[in-house]
Amino acid sequence: MKKTANQSADRCDLNRSDHRSYLSAMGIQTWELRQEFHGVVTDEIARGDDLPSQVTQNPDVANMDWSTLRKAVENCTRCDLASSRTQTVFGIGNSDAQWMVIGEGPGAEEDKVGEPFVGRAGRLLDNMLRAIGKQRDSVFIANVIKCRPPGNRDPKPEEVTACAGYLERQIKLVNPGLILALGRFAAQTLLKVDTPVGQLRGRVHHYGKIPLVVTYHPAYLLRSPERKAHAWDDLCLARACPAGEA
Ligand code: URA
Repeated sequence: MKKTANQSADRCDLNRSDHRSYLSAMGIQTWELRQEFHGVVTDEIARGDDLPSQVTQNPDVANMDWSTLRKAVENCTRCDLASSRTQTVFGIGNSDAQWMVIGEGPGAEEDKVGEPFVGRAGRLLDNMLRAIGKQRDSVFIANVIKCRPPGNRDPKPEEVTACAGYLERQIKLVNPGLILALGRFAAQTLLKVDTPVGQLRGRVHHYGKIPLVVTYHPAYLLRSPERKAHAWDDLCLARACPAGEA
């Protein structure tokens, strides 16, 4: 069912007083009159009805259960990142989660700790989630690639291809009601487009049948705090999706 932009904004308005402190932790000044949300909830299907593609290239991964998948990632040598990583970063959280949050790939902190989003950007992500009433351990957090690219460079296409089956299997196993794609890299990889994030955010896409909302990457928000109000709108849009509030 289609919802209007105002309906989605209203839903967040209902909870605004409860979340004032979290909004402030996100760096959004709650006394500020924000622009009204202008996004549109669409029923666009970005990738067709079925979960697509790379899994068919990695049929072994497509049938793995959680523990086999975790071991496969731990021992993975499918690309050159295997030689420079400290450890793989599999993903963390509730394997039955309604929300799956997907970032780009591990940075230096994550490579050390073995957990996604544990650095400054991770702390902002935690605050963003708390702002809409979600705890880190109530969602499942994963990255497009499971190993840190040296020097925090962008992942190369062949590294993404080598890793794609792992994320696709994780999505299939979690079977979330909503995917939140953080930043350009996750959004463009999942939606198979090269549209800038600014144009992808503000509406609901789909990954297979799963609603997918794009927002700015927390690391970008740390550099561009003026975008945090947009990120808040995106979180409200995600919450307004049928499974978003669960
Ligand atoms: N940025 C990401 O995209 N993922 C992480 O796990 C950490 C930082």
